[in-house]
Amino acid sequence: MKKGPLLYRGKAKSVYLTDDPDEVSVEFRDDITAFDGEKKAVLEGKGMYNAAVSAFLFEYLEIHGVKTQYIHMLDNRTMLVRRLSMIPLEVIVRNVAAGSLVKRYPFNEGDVLNPTVIILDYKDDTRHDPMVNDDIIFALGLVSREELLTIRKTALKVNDLLRTYLAGLSITLVDFKLEFGRYKDKILVGDEISMDSMRLWDGKTKESLDKDVYRFEKGDVMSTYAAVVERITPGALHRFEAEKTVFSGE
Ligand code: C5P
Repeated sequence: MKKGPLLYRGKAKSVYLTDDPDEVSVEFRDDITAFDGEKKAVLEGKGMYNAAVSAFLFEYLEIHGVKTQYIHMLDNRTMLVRRLSMIPLEVIVRNVAAGSLVKRYPFNEGDVLNPTVIILDYKDDTRHDPMVNDDIIFALGLVSREELLTIRKTALKVNDLLRTYLAGLSITLVDFKLEFGRYKDKILVGDEISMDSMRLWDGKTKESLDKDVYRFEKGDVMSTYAAVVERITPGALHRFEAEKTVFSGE
């Protein structure tokens, strides 16, 4: 496996070509950003934590019948994935009112949402990821009606699986963001599922266990992330830290 040229550098991940045109490697960097990139920092080791949780949850989804881009880890912060043509939508699933939902609508933080709310945002930082409805999605030609149905159904299935798994660890899945992409004739879950893309509360104390700790300076980000990794992927940290290899393609 050869690490090829950089294909894309996002705010917290870099994507590299490989020698297989259908596969790319995704490196989880230590950068952390919030508020459309206005607040940023580098937290050493953070990439490894998000990679560990993403890998574990992608594997968990695959085992339960959800198709994702994930193939396997190459080193402790790099995953090999199927190369997707990304759909520029942020698919946000909300079980409990928090964050921008509470800012924009008359919910109180902590209200349980019935039904579960799916919000679709157009992914574009320069426009501040505006919310879109079905008509805008079709008029922009982002996906077909059938594809949008698949995306919504898959998002709800992912929600059921993750919410149940996390509830077993006494973690409330408040909300999370998914991204999807096309691979051959299929739509797969892509990007990441990590503390940067989920809002997690401790089931008992309601303490934030995610990027809100960084956004709103609620405590020590790295010790929060380390504890969450240990809770969600028991033993994985130890395994990943023991792995000294860094993916270089040599
Ligand atoms: O900010 P907001 O409350 O809309 O975020 C909802 C969920 O989506 C949070 O879990 C947040 O981390 C995630 N999100 C994300 N990337 C964005 C916007 C939101 O991962 N660009």
